[in-house]
Amino acid sequence: MKLSEGAEAIISLKNNLVIKERISKNYRLKVLDEKLRKLRTRKEAKILQKLNELNISSPKLITSCDKKMIIEMEYLEGKQLSLVIDENYSKQAGEIVGKMHENNIIHGDLTTANFVVKNDKVFIIDFGLSVISKRTEDKAVDLHLFERSLEAHHTNIKEECWDAFLESYQKHKESNAVIKQLEKVEHRGRNK
Ligand SMILES: Nc1ncnc2c1ncn2[C@@H]1O[C@H](COP(=O)(O)OP(=O)(O)OP(=O)(O)O)[C@@H](O)[C@H]1O
Ligand SMILES: [Mg+2]
Repeated sequence: MKLSEGAEAIISLKNNLVIKERISKNYRLKVLDEKLRKLRTRKEAKILQKLNELNISSPKLITSCDKKMIIEMEYLEGKQLSLVIDENYSKQAGEIVGKMHENNIIHGDLTTANFVVKNDKVFIIDFGLSVISKRTEDKAVDLHLFERSLEAHHTNIKEECWDAFLESYQKHKESNAVIKQLEKVEHRGRNK
């Protein structure tokens, strides 16, 4: 059963597992396209495995195959955070992102569509654009993306949710430097 078809991947449900398959993009050169899809599949599986090891709330990785460009993972039967967001869930999201950044894992596409809520518990998903980086700037850009996604899709509750997110994010190591850098990122955004 197909769950979702995005720009880069098809998500389907089979035997109660989620299969994420990277699909080909016609506008890319074939050789390049294959390389990129394999690379992203491998990277996504690696990051997911690392999150599992660190006990960061994410689906369990079952298997991955670079050649077939698929990842098999636990199915989190729930709703996208974007559909149910509130202060409590934002706080949980801040906790997750805080732990990721403490371990130098940058999400790369931090929006409210890339979290799933199952039984009141928040999980992070979609690591196709994730990278390992110690840079404060990269972490700040992650936060900026999340803030922007709150502004764009949850305008009326943005302030409470953002405050709740930061409250738990701030409890993590070196988070103050990231929040300081965020001001610079925001400033740049405004002057573009
Ligand atoms: N493990 C999972 N359990 C439940 N639902 C999931 C799971 N993985 C993905 N989904 C659902 O499928 C949607 C799309 O998945 P995902 O965000 O990983 O891919 P994508 O955004 O299409 O791909 P990408 O951004 O890597 O190109 C999610 O927003 C979520 O609703
Ligand atoms: Mg996604």
